[in-house]
Amino acid sequence: EESKLALITRFIRQFPDFPSKGIVFRDICPIMKHPAALTAVMDLFEKHVRETQPLVDLIVGIDARGFLFGPLLAQRLGVGFVMVRKKGKLPGPTVSVAYTLEYGTAEAEIQEDSVSPGQKVVLIDDLLATGGTLFAACELMKKRGAEILGCLVVVELNDLSGREKLKPHAVFSLIQY
Ligand code: PRP
Repeated sequence: EESKLALITRFIRQFPDFPSKGIVFRDICPIMKHPAALTAVMDLFEKHVRETQPLVDLIVGIDARGFLFGPLLAQRLGVGFVMVRKKGKLPGPTVSVAYTLEYGTAEAEIQEDSVSPGQKVVLIDDLLATGGTLFAACELMKKRGAEILGCLVVVELNDLSGREKLKPHAVFSLIQY
């Protein structure tokens, strides 16, 4: 596993002062261009879920980069995939929740029929920063009566304490900065 993590780490870039001054943006785009790195990500996520959350019913991906990894994982596990989108993108009856970003607020939304009460879900995104985004997604899951088994991210930014914000839900991250 060490070598898989080392491989993944080589394909994460950093861009200082993006999207605004003082923020170091961790960019996972190179992983998507390198099949072996993407395979390593999926291997580690699949192993973790099979070992710790074998009863998962659905993988829930976060707009936008959770959509890169979520469907691949869902297919490996033989379960469905559901999108949490930014408000206003999904047709039909929806459920939404507001959340706070570093500057201002946003709203996350799911289709009402995307998750049923009692379904066991694992959430996935590329990166955990403050945890506001995944927290909002967890709120949506609770509104629908889903059971949250945990959250998966490729990158976790330790200083922003997203892991604390998401408690009691477990966070599994591959790379930490
Ligand atoms: C990034 C990242 C996570 C979120 C994490 O998305 O992909 O979804 O921020 O931040 P948080 O833990 O502080 O909530 P971004 O806001 O850049 O939106 P995008 O995926 O649409 O580019």
